[in-house]
Amino acid sequence: MSHKRALITGASKGLGFALALELAHQGWQLIITARDTEKLLKAKRALVSLTQVTAIAGDVRDEIHLLELADLMSAKKWSLDLVVNNASYLGVSPLSNLLDHSIDNMHLVLHTNMIAPISLLQKVKPHFSPAAQVVNISSDAGVEAYETWGVYGGSKAGLDHMTAILGKENPQYRFYAFDPGDMRTDMHQAAFPGEDISDRPLPETQAVPALIKLVQSDLPSGRYTAQSQELFVHQTQA
Ligand SMILES: NC(=O)c1ccc[n+]([C@@H]2O[C@H](COP(=O)([O-])OP(=O)(O)OC[C@H]3O[C@@H](n4cnc5c(N)ncnc54)[C@H](OP(=O)(O)O)[C@@H]3O)[C@@H](O)[C@H]2O)c1
Repeated sequence: MSHKRALITGASKGLGFALALELAHQGWQLIITARDTEKLLKAKRALVSLTQVTAIAGDVRDEIHLLELADLMSAKKWSLDLVVNNASYLGVSPLSNLLDHSIDNMHLVLHTNMIAPISLLQKVKPHFSPAAQVVNISSDAGVEAYETWGVYGGSKAGLDHMTAILGKENPQYRFYAFDPGDMRTDMHQAAFPGEDISDRPLPETQAVPALIKLVQSDLPSGRYTAQSQELFVHQTQA
């Protein structure tokens, strides 16, 4: 049984929870976060029979919340093997064109998806284990130019670029941007209001297995997707 330790933001549901569940099955000890306390507690209850899990409710845009996460590491004398910046904000649904977009909402999206992940890393870096890995959850919207997806897509493109720079600046660690692909989650439903999204895979069917492969790999820092050839090659070599 591994006793590695991971911090996952936005782990009360969707991809974050599915990843937490798989890591818990593998014996990882976890710190999970999200804003909605009831949903977070429900997630914690589902994990606690499998592993040691601490749930801290808060908004990743709240600097105090991020500082409290670092304080928790100090109090527990934990070092982190993995940080997953998963919490994210799509923006107001239905999405709108860039030239019609509310600037206030733009601040919220860019703060949540681009600034908060870096701010969290700044605070917990003193607690990184010697071979720590960071996964910043990306999206194909950060690469493709989809109409109305400019703010969210721009935030993910910015996060991808900063992830690449983090990898250069901190070669002792691994920094991965990971695009999970379409997943049947609340965020995806918000992106396609009123549409039937039942054909999209659940996070645990494709994204989580690929993410686990990435974390178990020795792949260099970089951008990977759930369909990534590098992951597939690694999978067949393992
Ligand atoms: N679903 C897709 O098709 C898709 C595709 C490509 C990429 N992604 C990416 O995959 C990741 C997970 O998305 P998902 O689809 O699993 O979303 P989800 O089901 O909506 O879950 C999002 C999680 O993040 C938390 N969260 C949201 N805003 C937060 C904030 N400001 N502070 C703290 N926690 C916050 C939510 O809980 P609270 O609301 O209670 O805080 C929840 O736990 C995101 O980075 C997303 O951009 C998703």
